[in-house]
Amino acid sequence: MPEEFKDDAYYIEKINQLRKERNAVILAHNYQRPEIQDIADLAGDSLDLSRRAAKTDADVVVFCGVRFMAETAAIVSPQKKVLLPAKEADCPMVRAVSRQAVIEMKRQHPGATTVCYVNTSAEVKAEADICCTSANVVKVVASLGDEEILFIPDKHLGAYAAHKTGKNICSWDGFCPTHFLLSPEDVKHQMEKYPEAEVLVHPECRFEVIELAHQALSTNGMVTYVKESSAKEFIIGTENGLIYRLAKENPDKKFYPASESMICPNMKLTTLERVAHSLETMEYEIVIPDEVRQPAQEALNRMLAVT
Ligand code: 13P
Ligand code: SF4
Repeated sequence: MPEEFKDDAYYIEKINQLRKERNAVILAHNYQRPEIQDIADLAGDSLDLSRRAAKTDADVVVFCGVRFMAETAAIVSPQKKVLLPAKEADCPMVRAVSRQAVIEMKRQHPGATTVCYVNTSAEVKAEADICCTSANVVKVVASLGDEEILFIPDKHLGAYAAHKTGKNICSWDGFCPTHFLLSPEDVKHQMEKYPEAEVLVHPECRFEVIELAHQALSTNGMVTYVKESSAKEFIIGTENGLIYRLAKENPDKKFYPASESMICPNMKLTTLERVAHSLETMEYEIVIPDEVRQPAQEALNRMLAVT
């Protein structure tokens, strides 16, 4: 017998029932599918979600995003059960650097301070002096002294932070494949097509793209900026999932993707069915061994203290 088709309403009802039974909070990144953003208790950027994970009184955190985000929640909230519904959802930039490579880089730069973007594994965070997100990178880097700074792993975010703070930054050679897709030509094309629009890009974009934009902002930075701006049209240079939230919260404003190809496939792996399955089976739990969690938590706590 063919399996009965179950629609979104079926899974939403199931999720609502199970989240109460489990005393669970559902956190979703701003790039998640619209229906996932809609059922989440909070949709936000990496900083917002890590703050919420650190102070939630729920017993279970269901993290709709990619693995490093769920790991961050598990590091800052060790007494909670943290679940990643799409267990294969990973960020390729995270895989660009290993703990061993960071240890070697630190050995080659004695006296340097190591800043790790949250888009790193728990093991790499354990080697950091301090973490940062795209929302607080400038504040975190500016809070450091005049010593050399090792910035891991995003060379574009590192270049942006160096430009904004004037600090001496040596970056790892990583990057986000989704943001790398946005070229200066794409941006110029959309600017010609929509001359009234303000251009907002994510600081993971290439520096020559950032230079063309009116603002470089984290995803939540864009949400706040759009709300407060008197402009009516915006060209959005980040993963296109954010446009759903921007349009929903600002029905009187218009949003155009800077490039149609800015889709992060890993961010789209979470579905309603998988969230319901996660709550039902309590899979897939993120467990960080104590010897990794403790130093990683210190680096994250230093970041949370700066911002
Ligand atoms: P935000 O923290 O700005 O939401 O960015 C996370 C991310 O993965 C960007 O690609
Ligand atoms: Fe990683 Fe880029 Fe996807 Fe963000 S958009 S999760 S940095 S691959």
